[in-house]
Amino acid sequence: MKIGIVGLGYVGLPLAVAFLDAGHDVVGLDTDQRKVAALGRGESYIEDVPSERIAQHGGHLSATTDVHALGECDAVVIAVPTPLTENREPDLGPLVGAATALASVVRKGQLVVLESTTYPGTTRERLVPLLEESGLAAGRDFNVAFSPERIDPGRTDFTMRNTPKVVGGLTPDCRRRAVEMYSEICDEVVEVSTPEAAELAKLLENVFRSVNIALVNELAIICDRMGIDIWEVVEAASTKPYGFMRFDPGPGMGGHCLPVDPFYLAWKARQYETSTHFIELAGEVNQNMPYFCVERITRALNDHSKAVRGSRVAVLGVSYKPGVGDLRESPALKIMRLLDQRGARLAYNDPFVPRLADFGLESEELGDLLDGADVAAIVTAHPGLDLQAVVDAAPLVVDFRGVTRGIEAPNLVRL
Ligand SMILES: NC(=O)c1ccc[n+]([C@@H]2O[C@H](COP(=O)([O-])OP(=O)(O)OC[C@H]3O[C@@H](n4cnc5c(N)ncnc54)[C@H](O)[C@@H]3O)[C@@H](O)[C@H]2O)c1
Repeated sequence: MKIGIVGLGYVGLPLAVAFLDAGHDVVGLDTDQRKVAALGRGESYIEDVPSERIAQHGGHLSATTDVHALGECDAVVIAVPTPLTENREPDLGPLVGAATALASVVRKGQLVVLESTTYPGTTRERLVPLLEESGLAAGRDFNVAFSPERIDPGRTDFTMRNTPKVVGGLTPDCRRRAVEMYSEICDEVVEVSTPEAAELAKLLENVFRSVNIALVNELAIICDRMGIDIWEVVEAASTKPYGFMRFDPGPGMGGHCLPVDPFYLAWKARQYETSTHFIELAGEVNQNMPYFCVERITRALNDHSKAVRGSRVAVLGVSYKPGVGDLRESPALKIMRLLDQRGARLAYNDPFVPRLADFGLESEELGDLLDGADVAAIVTAHPGLDLQAVVDAAPLVVDFRGVTRGIEAPNLVRL
């Protein structure tokens, strides 16, 4: 097959490699000229995809900014961003852009699958009408399906191959075509009756995480007041072999998905005059965590007779999760902005993020960073971070990830 992929980011590029590995040709379309040029040079820009994987498939992958290259494809998968507007409403701009461009080349017999996370109804109500501007009819002349992406960047135990893939088609035939395609790269394809069911399944997965993270974050704040160790509580509860699933507290939610996706559902629910209490509440609790972290740092400094203003705060890990350099919605940035407003002198170490242009900062070597720091805040603990060295070198350490459990020191406080 020749597979077209629209949007070559965290989702699209690994997907392209999966189809290449399965022996298919891939045409990748992206509006970002730099990504297209990098792929042309055989270079990857996504941590999970080593450059050798791109180079190894040589002539079977072509990246372009020209939508006409998709006309020849048997199937086209859309994996463009679905962010929020400033007012925290769905921003379907990239999707509308991609679909409008695709309408100029879509042809009879093609399969178009949307993978971007979105509210139920997007495929049928937004994507299909745009594609039908071509004069062709979806479900009759070409096939349309929705299949949510479940990639977890940085993860190696669950890959595209062994993570079941949910597929919902506009018609049974659309679904069959999509199942056939994904069976090439996934061991298990899960069929649902409609694109809406597939769209909502993805949102359920993310809302489930968001709500449970909020619950344990709220518990962390309660524990802080009560003087109980939240990590000990989570560890203890996690020994229950059934009926409990472990979630860890932290400095807040980051990434493209969890802080964003639930709002897609909340927005759509309003159209049906129904409310989404759990979603809103979870968002509220999780968005408050960076404020709580700043309050915790302030208190820790105070206990050492220091003020935030003028203190040198060393932030360890600024990306939103360990092992990746993704800064999107990272709570570390929020924490840094708040500390900056309070007059702290900021510095950071993150092996995955060489510079933070917005702050005019560059990542410092750990030793240099801790030398002269008043407090070190562990916001994201990347693999290989020498925790004992941090506790030994910094006069004060605040750990928001619970990674220093097992170390007892008078200069160490945990969330
Ligand atoms: N990153 C994840 O872990 C993850 C996991 C599951 C689902 N998703 C969902 O997948 C979708 C894509 O996310 P991502 O993380 O890959 O985003 P990304 O920003 O890494 O990549 C999207 C790419 O699409 C390109 N693009 C934007 N508009 C375009 C257009 N009109 N035509 C062609 N290309 C265009 C961008 O230049 C970018 O390279 C989102 O809906 C996201 O919610 C992401």
